[in-house]
Amino acid sequence: MTSFAELLRLHRHAARLTLEQLAAASGVSARTLSDMERGRSTGPQHRTVTALADALALDGNARKQLGELAREGRLRDHGTRSSGLCELPRSVDDFTGRAAELAWTNRVVQANASLITGPAGLGKTTLAVRAAHALRPDFPDGVFFLDLYGMSAQPISAGDALAQLLRAFGGADRFAPQDVAARASLYRSLLQDRRVLIVLDNAGSEEQLRPLLTDGGNSRVLATSRRLLAGLEGVHRLSLGPLPPAEAVVLLTGILGERGPSESGPAIVELAKLCGGLPLALRIVGNRLVSRPGWTAADLAARLSNEERRLDQLRAGDLKIANAFGVSYEQLREVGRRVFRRLSSVPGKDFDASIAAVVGDTSLEEAWEVLDELVDLGLLQEGPSGRYHFHDLVRLFARDRLQDEPAAGLDEITDSVSSWPLRMATTAGRRLVPADGLPDRSFLDEAAR
Ligand SMILES: Nc1ncnc2c1ncn2[C@@H]1O[C@H](COP(=O)(O)OP(=O)(O)O)[C@@H](O)[C@H]1O
Ligand SMILES: [Mg+2]
Repeated sequence: MTSFAELLRLHRHAARLTLEQLAAASGVSARTLSDMERGRSTGPQHRTVTALADALALDGNARKQLGELAREGRLRDHGTRSSGLCELPRSVDDFTGRAAELAWTNRVVQANASLITGPAGLGKTTLAVRAAHALRPDFPDGVFFLDLYGMSAQPISAGDALAQLLRAFGGADRFAPQDVAARASLYRSLLQDRRVLIVLDNAGSEEQLRPLLTDGGNSRVLATSRRLLAGLEGVHRLSLGPLPPAEAVVLLTGILGERGPSESGPAIVELAKLCGGLPLALRIVGNRLVSRPGWTAADLAARLSNEERRLDQLRAGDLKIANAFGVSYEQLREVGRRVFRRLSSVPGKDFDASIAAVVGDTSLEEAWEVLDELVDLGLLQEGPSGRYHFHDLVRLFARDRLQDEPAAGLDEITDSVSSWPLRMATTAGRRLVPADGLPDRSFLDEAAR
């Protein structure tokens, strides 16, 4: 079978382009291209693939094949990268500004626990992840990341968090003690003996976080929360604010940089202002402009400032953000809009393409395409192993858009979502108990692993 690397080189040669020429035409750096052609980067992001396909003037099947090979590569990358347990996510490539805040993160080593607080969409997770990568050399026994889902309907219990972290530390995976107090004491003794950094994202309460903190030793905790968690004492604190206007402009310009329309400065400044210094809004607005260069920054700015006057129905979250999401949502094809808003009703932390296909009533292939598109727009985030999740605020927005569904449709969605686990179980059950009545042992072993 052809690999992504081979296919890319083939198309480039067919188009009679050098690496540098393709780089210039696609906006993807020559270095990255060369890594791809040598198979060192096997699963590039969808947006990169689109840029390459455009530059190579691929259409129809050729474009589709390249996209599929890239997706397979991404899945394989996820599968082979370490254990995947409590793995620190990648840092964003275009991290912008935040000099004072980064200086604050240098002192994470000095306090047992550090806490970044602030409203959703400001960049708490992004900053914590960035800092944790930079701090790796200080923590030779590892850097771990766990989302506590503290603001969701089902926050992770401290006991479950302990179990997950113990499993990630390795060694203890066979016996995370049943008793939560015993787990906590094992956790503490491991942290005492080692030098690890644990990033705990989205802490919901003092009670949730407290059992996960260290008391002495060389390990450290860096947590984020939308709440102040004022009850925690002796914690090194940072209250994150909006991105200052100049930095907001730099971020937006950077996002538009590669393939964006050549835009006038004032329009970009205006657009950045309309995003209220919220990186999440800047990201989504920027991606919107890049992915379909039909609109200029000035058009989009005019549109957003108009919207500001119209009170939006979004009940929670920030109005500016709602508008930023809105312009991306509206540019989706109907099937994309349907999948997007319906995914907000899927219970659980994340989902994969098969669930997207079920709720959106599409083929699996169509679901893959829509998910790629949503990731490109920044409306969804791609996690490990082909799973996707919403930023909390985006999920709220998507849920709000469910009002675009015909009334009868809503029940149908709820039904298809709630019967989905049952259908999955039935399918799995058939594999376990085949017609001859003998369970398939290998599948059982696999499931137990
Ligand atoms: N300093 C930054 N530079 C570049 N992008 C950022 C920065 N901070 C945040 N972002 C972008 O904004 C989005 C929202 O940030 P996130 O860290 O998820 O916010 P929070 O955790 O506070 O809700 C992220 O997807 C990220 O791409
Ligand atoms: Mg976050």
